[in-house]
Amino acid sequence: MMIDRDGIARPGTPERRILDEIRPEGLPRHVAMIMDGNGRWAEARNLPRVQGHRAGAQAVRTTLETAARLGIEVITLYAFSTENWKRPKLEVRALWALLKEFIDSQLDTFKKNNLRFQTIGDLERLDPSVRKYLDRARHVTRDCTGTLVQIALNYSGRHELTRVIRAAVTDATQGLLEPEMIDEAWIAQHLDTAGRPDPDLLIRTSGEQRISNFLLWQIAYSEIYFTKVLWPDFGTTEFLEAIRVYQQRDRRFGGLTDTVPPGGNPVQT
Ligand code: IPE
Ligand code: IPE
Ligand code: MG
Repeated sequence: MMIDRDGIARPGTPERRILDEIRPEGLPRHVAMIMDGNGRWAEARNLPRVQGHRAGAQAVRTTLETAARLGIEVITLYAFSTENWKRPKLEVRALWALLKEFIDSQLDTFKKNNLRFQTIGDLERLDPSVRKYLDRARHVTRDCTGTLVQIALNYSGRHELTRVIRAAVTDATQGLLEPEMIDEAWIAQHLDTAGRPDPDLLIRTSGEQRISNFLLWQIAYSEIYFTKVLWPDFGTTEFLEAIRVYQQRDRRFGGLTDTVPPGGNPVQT
């Protein structure tokens, strides 16, 4: 896969210098992002928190465009956690309205950049009008073969695992599942992320150094990159820098450097 270097950054710019250090053969296949800090970004400007989320949506656009041009296989974005329902009703409502707006304004760009839209998380609790937008986004982009964009909505890792265990017990009581049939591959196939590689790189913005219930199973061997930059300020330079740092890490997967196949993740199921 060739990197569209000129499409990402003009020669001579600081981001181009970072980009030129990035090796196409060692790119992460899957990058997951905890997009945090929208509220603090707004508060620092004396703006309502919602304006921070709006600015955050712009950062999503930039990030997806860069991901497409780098040729990243999968991007997973934590947009709304199962715990985020605890926020004031007004903010929650604004977040779902923004998601609809984002889909409306971005579907053409998704097609143009060959991005495929998907979701992870429990959509049952979402408003039917939101689900309609999600269905449309999935439908319109279903034949796109470039970067797969998974938006995590009403998602949490524990909730996802709970749903898997429930499904297993249901199958077992119907005689469809024996204990020996459950192994790591079986579990991976029943997660919302079934069929996709585990994240190689997990990025969290805003300076918080925690996972906040994101992709608990899948990040077993992900490289984690924390940055103090608030999500609305996360641009091409920050994304490229995270990838550059990632490429300097020595991923051992519990073995020794020599035994790890190049670019390979042996725990992958
Ligand atoms: C992340 O930004 C976006 C969502 C959780 C939806 P926050 O809204 O958490 O921003 P901070 O952490 O309050 O700054
Ligand atoms: C994590 O951010 C969830 C998303 C980015 C959607 P939060 O702001 O909800 O996480 P905590 O509360 O700081 O752990
Ligand atoms: Mg936050």
